Amino acid sequence: MRVAVFSTHSFDRQFLDQANAGRGHDLHYFDTRLTTATCALASGFPVVCAFVNDQLNAEVLALLASGGTRLIALRSAGFNHVDLDKARALGFTVARVPAYSPHAVAEHTIALVLVLDRKIHRAYSRVREGNFALDGLLGFDLHGRTAGIVGTGRIGSAVAGILVGFGCRVLAYDVVPSQECRAMGVEYVSLDDIWKQSDIVTLHTPLTPETRHIVNARSIALMRPGVMIINTGRGALVDTPAVVAGLKSGHIGHLGLDVYEEEEALFFEDLSSHVIQDDVFARLLTFPNVVITAHQAFFTREALGAIAEATLENISAFDEGRRSGNELF
Ligand code: NAI
Repeated sequence: MRVAVFSTHSFDRQFLDQANAGRGHDLHYFDTRLTTATCALASGFPVVCAFVNDQLNAEVLALLASGGTRLIALRSAGFNHVDLDKARALGFTVARVPAYSPHAVAEHTIALVLVLDRKIHRAYSRVREGNFALDGLLGFDLHGRTAGIVGTGRIGSAVAGILVGFGCRVLAYDVVPSQECRAMGVEYVSLDDIWKQSDIVTLHTPLTPETRHIVNARSIALMRPGVMIINTGRGALVDTPAVVAGLKSGHIGHLGLDVYEEEEALFFEDLSSHVIQDDVFARLLTFPNVVITAHQAFFTREALGAIAEATLENISAFDEGRRSGNELF
């Protein structure tokens, strides 16, 4: 099938080409994001393959449908960027990659916890400058600390397993509690108890109307002074101005982000010669106790290989009139 692949980098091409060997789909790579302005590139392609910061709103979907596209193959687990009602109404099949490597995201989550706790980001620069002083680098033992996990699906459960291994008391909140987590000793509590009792709060729910800004001024006020907040889920789980206020007052002790509400304008590009126009993001970068990575939690060889395999399988299934099992509809 002819596939228009948007938001591609060399690493995407490498893994997709490998997965396509033997399948023979006709993959056309576009560096650009899919937006209203660029969707004409997909005209005549029955398949559009998109990533997390591509726009699949009503307007783009209508234009894709009129250009002959019938399958949206997402290279992601999350699908909050797709107007699902419109896609269904237009008769699209939408397939995603539900589980490529929960370990990749879970391990990056823990990397952010450890970097912030032990101030590795500051120690790294200091040592390279010949500054071997320890002042300002004081951390805390994870052993015995309370961690609160919001969302214990594939990724949240993997995070729970690692934190149990560190000797943390692990609390969790989920609309559907996991027996696997319970068996590990995870205690399910109310959302307010997550905020009130946790030294570390980490977010692993999908972005939905219910979870949008789940970390906000109210929830921050309930949190322990000095709390560490980690978000590797989706940027809009966090109300960023409320978090900036919490950091300025000192109530939030550490913040680790792999996602940001307005990341479309920033992430996945080299903007090092540009002036950042987003003042909220620029403010976040000024705090010594904030570490931000640019949506790289998924970025392991294992995960990219699995994403490419599942994406190509979703396309082959559509081509052959089968279901891969990864279709939303
Ligand atoms: P999953 O579907 O296995 O788990 C999500 C969990 O959230 C489920 O247990 C579900 O019951 C729970 N949940 C849903 N709505 C809830 C609510 N209102 N309150 C409490 N719990 C709720 O998903 P998975 O694979 O664990 O991924 C989670 C999210 O992580 C994805 O939706 C995606 O947004 C994000 N993600 C981020 C990546 C990155 O590179 N930073 C990569 C992959 C996923």
